[in-house]
Amino acid sequence: MKLDLLTLLICPACLPAEVQLKETIREISQGDIEEGELRCPRCRRSYPIAEGIADLDPGETTGNDRPANKYESAPVLSSYLWSHYADIFQDAAASDAYRRWADLMEPHPGLAIDAGAAVGRFTFAMSVKCDLAVGADNSRTFIRTASDLMKHREITIPLKVEGNIFTEASLRLPPEWDSSRVEFIVADALALPFRAGSAASFASLNLIDKVPGPLGHLEEMNRVTRATDAQFLLSDPFSWSEEAAAETQWLGGMTDGPFAGRGLANIVSLLAGDAHRLPPRWRISSSGEVWWKIRTHANHFELIRSCYVKARR
Ligand SMILES: C[S@@+](CC[C@H](N)C(=O)[O-])C[C@H]1O[C@@H](n2cnc3c(N)ncnc32)[C@H](O)[C@@H]1O
Repeated sequence: MKLDLLTLLICPACLPAEVQLKETIREISQGDIEEGELRCPRCRRSYPIAEGIADLDPGETTGNDRPANKYESAPVLSSYLWSHYADIFQDAAASDAYRRWADLMEPHPGLAIDAGAAVGRFTFAMSVKCDLAVGADNSRTFIRTASDLMKHREITIPLKVEGNIFTEASLRLPPEWDSSRVEFIVADALALPFRAGSAASFASLNLIDKVPGPLGHLEEMNRVTRATDAQFLLSDPFSWSEEAAAETQWLGGMTDGPFAGRGLANIVSLLAGDAHRLPPRWRISSSGEVWWKIRTHANHFELIRSCYVKARR
């Protein structure tokens, strides 16, 4: 973990109090903490830093205590590596989704947060647009893979062809994606370990329908994002499911209640200041859709219409 991150981090278990973490460094290499821990002086919780990766997921405090997480499995890892990087290794079936999402972001000084970063594509793309891009995800497998890519800049990806037949793709990161401006941490999008107002941009891509508290995620975004000179990009297919969140928590997809109607429209209205949940209010700069593709095997892809809103304040 880069030393620069230390001043930005707080204890996610003590929120809404923002308590600075105290570091113990056991091994450091070229400005990166390789082994150590971050300790909260208030709740005494300790967050490990192992093999360069800080684990700041408070787990049980948010009720998001890692039941069998499908995002830890080898087939899903392969699917996401393909989804994130197939255009880079020039697979003819690749989508242009991540280029389109990155094009929606304007360059800015300071910190960019990519919540639910998975294997890091959007975070890397932000490295050319800001001083530091941090990808945060609660899948250790995804964050370890993204972090390995940050360090080694290449990876061989196993891809299922059919049944037990596999092939491989070789990925090398484009030289313009700057590893010195990228970091990956394990964290919960409902209890982010960042100080209020620390981020100049925040992305939530295909995440809000996967968390147990969608409104809590938006409130966390709002807390860690600056009150002025800030950008927010949210994109999602709004596949609300009881598997991810109780129906009472959904921000759309219902015929009555406070969030009746479509998820994107309800989020636009929350950002614009309705219900006073996300102050100071955001101005919507654009909205639209991006076709996003995930590969299962050579003959099986999921094609997802991810509806986005881009906002500024
Ligand atoms: C559908 S994937 C989208 C990944 C990536 N943003 C993209 O668009 O390609 C959802 C991601 O959110 C992560 N995730 C789910 N719940 C989370 C939480 N509470 N906090 C952080 N990440 C979470 C998963 O591990 C997974 O990487």
